[in-house]
Amino acid sequence: MKIVALTGAGISAESGLATFRSSGGLWNQYRIEDVASIDAWNRDPKLVLEFYNMRRRELAHAKPNAAHLALTRLAEFATMKIITQNVDDLHEKAGSKDIIHLHGELTKVRSSLNDNLIYPVGYQDICLGDLAPDGSQLRPHIVWFGEAVPLIPDAIEEVLKADMIIIIGTSMQVYPAAGLIQYAGPGTEIIYIDPEAGNKKVLGKQVRYLNGKAGDLLPPLVEELRIEFDKIR
Ligand code: OAD
Repeated sequence: MKIVALTGAGISAESGLATFRSSGGLWNQYRIEDVASIDAWNRDPKLVLEFYNMRRRELAHAKPNAAHLALTRLAEFATMKIITQNVDDLHEKAGSKDIIHLHGELTKVRSSLNDNLIYPVGYQDICLGDLAPDGSQLRPHIVWFGEAVPLIPDAIEEVLKADMIIIIGTSMQVYPAAGLIQYAGPGTEIIYIDPEAGNKKVLGKQVRYLNGKAGDLLPPLVEELRIEFDKIR
């Protein structure tokens, strides 16, 4: 049995990190075009660096919540892969392994000339003038709007092999991530946990919708799966 968890900002909401599209979400306070696009970087890199410096400082103090920990528990008895749209490191802090960060990682930076020159930065700020060894300005290791998502083929491969997909805390509005679900096989069980899950029909798929917070609903779901797995073992 292979399980893929497809996570979004909602799984980190109970850790105090803002989501993007909810009221009070980041995209109500900032315009994507100003801080999270390749055009913004080319136009005003200082503003973009400041936006991600703020995110990194918040992350330094954030702790994984019951939902992140439940996924770590799930990996103890099932073959698991986490595909996350999140750039935070809360899955890692919870002890999860095998994580595909579709949209990059806040705790890494890279050369602005060579996408393959990637460096850990932890929770430090990066400023204009901080250079990669190739002499270029360091940039956040984030996939911005207007850029390709290099890990999508890896994620598709995982979804094709999955027996079960658990979608957690994502509005499923951003492509190509939201389109991944279309690669699920006809027999793949899909469960969607989100306070708004019932309002967001995943097109063309049979889905079990669980409306509510990830921290409330994921731990009992994992326990339910553990009991089922014990029966078939
Ligand atoms: P969104 O902000 O679009 O959606 C967050 C989802 O989390 C919503 O469906 C909420 O209902 C749900 N939610 C809120 N609290 C929750 C909780 N406690 N438990 C479970 N769910 C909860 O965030 P994403 O779907 O992750 O990309 O956004 C996708 C991408 O859009 C992000 O990776 C980011 C953004 O622009 C980039 O910056 C490249």
